[in-house]
Amino acid sequence: MKILVTYHSVTGNTKKIAEAIYETSSENHEADLKDMNDISMKDFANYDLVFLGSACHDSDLALPVLQLLEQTPSASGFKLAGFVTHASYTSEAGEYEKSMYEQWAGKCIKSFESFAHNNNIKFLGFFNCMGIPSPPIEKFIHDQIVTDKEQWSIYLEIIKKHPDENDLANAREFARAILGQID
Ligand SMILES: Cc1cc2nc3c(=O)[nH]c(=O)nc-3n(C[C@H](O)[C@H](O)[C@H](O)COP(=O)(O)O)c2cc1C
Repeated sequence: MKILVTYHSVTGNTKKIAEAIYETSSENHEADLKDMNDISMKDFANYDLVFLGSACHDSDLALPVLQLLEQTPSASGFKLAGFVTHASYTSEAGEYEKSMYEQWAGKCIKSFESFAHNNNIKFLGFFNCMGIPSPPIEKFIHDQIVTDKEQWSIYLEIIKKHPDENDLANAREFARAILGQID
């Protein structure tokens, strides 16, 4: 089985997750790790499984990822697993955190799912974790999203650590679970 781990990452968070997924994927399989800038949708045809990663932009997958998906022909033969880093809380956290995730990052998984559904491609699963935002995005979040002073200091304390070792371990676990579905 041939595996591609590819990602769109502007500030390196999603790349770190991609590297963890690649590390696990390459243990027992032929695997490639590629920046999405270095591939085209035609390359997907060479793989049995594609782990496709994106930074979350404007509450959805980043535009280059959406564009790549749009160009991918139906029933291409590869299976797909998605991963995303975002500056929202993770979906497993409490109510406030969950609604932030839903509003600001919840479209990512839906975009993967609808792409896979519409194109008859098997979607095997999704991983997400927090990723520290760049300074302008941090300012936007402070000004527009996490405006409460106390919430902001809690948020900042948490987000600045991600992705952390635990996220990387979870990403490796995610990769193992996906590989377990097709081995
Ligand atoms: C232009 C831009 C828009 C963003 N929009 C969102 C967003 O809507 N929701 C969110 O949770 N994070 C958003 N972020 C934060 C990034 O998704 C997050 O920091 C991610 O970990 C960055 O990944 P990267 O280092 O791989 O580029 C945005 C970042 C940028 C640069």
